[in-house]
Amino acid sequence: MCGIFGFVGNRSAAPLLIEGLRRLEYRGYDSTGLVVRNGSLQMFKKVGKVSELTKILPNHIEGKMGIAHTRWATHGPVTDSNAHPHMNMDESIALVHNGIIDNAKSLRNRLESKGVELTSETDSEVLVHMITIGLNSGQEPLEAVRQTLMRVTGTWGLCVLFKEYNQIICARNGSPLIIGQGVGESFVSSDPHALSQHTQNIFFLEDGDMAIVSSDGIDISRLEGGSSTTSMTILEDEWGEADMAGYPNFMLKEIHEQPEALRRCISGRLDKSNGSAKLGGLKLEPVRLRNSPHVRLIGCGTALNACRIGQLAIESLARIPAVAHVSSEFRYNDPVINPNAIHFAVSQSGETADTISAVKEIQLKGGDAHGIINVVGSSIARLCGQGVYIHSGPEQAVASTKAFTNMVASLLLFAIRIGRTRSFSRERGRNIIENFERIPQLMETYLSNQGPIDEAVELVKNAKSILYLGRGLSAPVASEGALKMLELAYIPCLAYPAGEMKHGPIALLEEGSPVIVIAPNDKHREKTIASMHECKARGAKIILIHEDGDSISEEADISIAIPACDSLLSPLLSVIPTQLIAYKTALALGCDVDRPRNLAKSVTVE
Ligand code: M6R
Repeated sequence: MCGIFGFVGNRSAAPLLIEGLRRLEYRGYDSTGLVVRNGSLQMFKKVGKVSELTKILPNHIEGKMGIAHTRWATHGPVTDSNAHPHMNMDESIALVHNGIIDNAKSLRNRLESKGVELTSETDSEVLVHMITIGLNSGQEPLEAVRQTLMRVTGTWGLCVLFKEYNQIICARNGSPLIIGQGVGESFVSSDPHALSQHTQNIFFLEDGDMAIVSSDGIDISRLEGGSSTTSMTILEDEWGEADMAGYPNFMLKEIHEQPEALRRCISGRLDKSNGSAKLGGLKLEPVRLRNSPHVRLIGCGTALNACRIGQLAIESLARIPAVAHVSSEFRYNDPVINPNAIHFAVSQSGETADTISAVKEIQLKGGDAHGIINVVGSSIARLCGQGVYIHSGPEQAVASTKAFTNMVASLLLFAIRIGRTRSFSRERGRNIIENFERIPQLMETYLSNQGPIDEAVELVKNAKSILYLGRGLSAPVASEGALKMLELAYIPCLAYPAGEMKHGPIALLEEGSPVIVIAPNDKHREKTIASMHECKARGAKIILIHEDGDSISEEADISIAIPACDSLLSPLLSVIPTQLIAYKTALALGCDVDRPRNLAKSVTVE
């Protein structure tokens, strides 16, 4: 949700800013812009993706310092004037901002009453004019930004550039901002993988941090005054691999990366001799696992679908109540928190504002939370201070794929771990662990023989709507398949536990309606067949995802076989055909698969 990139050093800034924007574009792509300092502040901004911005740039832009922004609109429509950066009236200060200024309306009125002309409808623009007033009254840049931020409420990750000063001022409160220190040069970014090609030396700013960033170094202080304890960390290698590696887009690349990503996720975590799992980052002693009253899992979108699978697996293996919660609802429903309960915050980006709020609510009420997170050092990872990194590597496509499978895998590992502590036998544990080890290979087997995905695409691409059905662990897989399809191809989709379909959604079915059914060979198989019959009796066409060799395929109009596996692990395989159907349908309809409309990769506002 908005990407920020900044550079100061001895190299030409513009190409670095453009490259940074390209890497951050997945965070928001309504408009982009940059400003470079070269005697004056030269600004360029444009509605659309980075490719649109590059069309209006001159061949060469002088200047070794600049800031840039890619926007996901919150305040004000998608227009050139609402694009960031925003400048003050005499064009001596420019600002880029990620977050929301809650009291922007009253600040705007006050500025206008003083004769300030605002040129955008954004909440962010007020900041640059307030900083100007501070600077004009004799404050230094850092102080002018500090005094401005003391007067605003809301969230920010921001960078400010000054015509007269050889430094960038940064601040963070609720929206991520990372500073990278190179040799004689410094970088600012919203996330680590836009920095990985430049430096491994990273400062993750904390909420309330401010920084002076120059080519000589980085000076971090606190908004309320005094120095900050934020220290340098070394970036993990895996955040470097963010190019397309010969694939036509990131989404296809990331679908195909799932076997390798899963291997990374489970590596060193399968405890074969004990039939259990080792999750070193979880600070949960066996006695706590035994005595905990319940488990709560919290996430949004794809992460929520992973939580729903985790819920079922934990309850089934460990015989402990487990429940999945929508992050955005959690805090506002004033939940009762039991400090002995186990809470998981599940998030690919680790920056999702709704999930952050839920974690804060748990902590405020005396509980603790564990992160199930992809981005190392992200806000939720640091807020929780304990948990499991899923090790998917950078996920660039807005629609989540390899993070989903690794979130599910991590939660299944936890289910095995707590299950072994509480109820099931070593033999059963060993059996699951042996099966787990084979899943990456089975993923590869499926990916090398994907079945009639193109036929499925023909059936769904012009449909008014698509119904996804599954039971048990396959119900959240159905939800995930539906989410992928509507995100990517903009086709209305409904996902239902198959047995619930007859209680309403069945009314949608007519001759030729496509129904995608996920039916591994588990205890729900017969009931799912009954649901398919109900659909077929209304003229629906069934696209069935089932285990190879299962005679259930006879029920299908289009049958897509996945390798047979332990039914607990089936979501790791059965979700892949749903990803491919969504992906290929989007391509067939001419949609942008990596950057679907209106979306952003990490949603850092509530
Ligand atoms: O970064 P997070 O996992 O916290 O993101 C949560 C959702 O915003 C995300 O899963 C979203 O639903 C994806 N676009 C799904 O493909």
